Amino acid sequence: MIALDDVSKRYPNGTFALRDVDLRIDSGDFIFLVGASGAGKSTLIRLLIREELATTGRVVVDGEDVGRMPRSRVHRLRRKVGVVFQDFKLLPRKTVAENVAFALIVTGHEGRLVREETERALSLVGLTARRDHFPSQLSGGEQQRTAIARALVNRPRILIADEPTGNLDPVTSWEIIKLLTRINDLGTTLVMATHNAEIVNALRRRVVHLDHGMVVRDEREGLYAA
Ligand SMILES: Nc1ncnc2c1ncn2[C@@H]1O[C@H](COP(=O)(O)OP(=O)(O)O)[C@@H](O)[C@H]1O
Ligand SMILES: [Mg+2]
Repeated sequence: MIALDDVSKRYPNGTFALRDVDLRIDSGDFIFLVGASGAGKSTLIRLLIREELATTGRVVVDGEDVGRMPRSRVHRLRRKVGVVFQDFKLLPRKTVAENVAFALIVTGHEGRLVREETERALSLVGLTARRDHFPSQLSGGEQQRTAIARALVNRPRILIADEPTGNLDPVTSWEIIKLLTRINDLGTTLVMATHNAEIVNALRRRVVHLDHGMVVRDEREGLYAA
């Protein structure tokens, strides 16, 4: 589903964010991408959605070489790969339902399909009752669930979460993790960057550990000693 072959990323200022990364993620996998702040987790994620290009090496997502893909195909890539972030990135003047529907509208959908798919995504994350609230009227966990619904509304094959619990208290973090594991159980490949050792160690999924841009450990049912 995802393959990185000998990928390095050097930013224009000279920083090497990734070095010789080889990684294969199968369809249906759930992986934790762990490592200290600055280890390269977000950079790896940006390469997967072509927000950045690898300096050397090859990034393949769902059979497509992301670095060589023409610009016109990037939209299609972003429909296949949903992303959620630590800071939710919701549109403050749109309601929960409008935030979710917007992701469909910008990909060219309209009418009944938008209404039905929006309600499906809201129901999946348990936010049907909050559909007409604005982000400022929601708790942090509800805001993150809105972001997850928005990421899922295009039915992506892959969901990427970059520190999705970074702004949440422990109880709310667990609710989000339970939701992400349920989404994975329904067949979506899941990649989650985190430095929350407690969550990683409780779930015992695959753990890919980055340190200074290098993969230093890659274990099934792994642990994370931060
Ligand atoms: N746009 C950028 N320009 C220059 N350096 C960057 C940029 N983004 C990240 N970096 C650097 O790349 C390294 C990896 O950062 P990042 O991928 O954000 O790590 P993480 O998400 O694990 O904290 C860090 O040294 C960071 O300072
Ligand atoms: Mg990061």
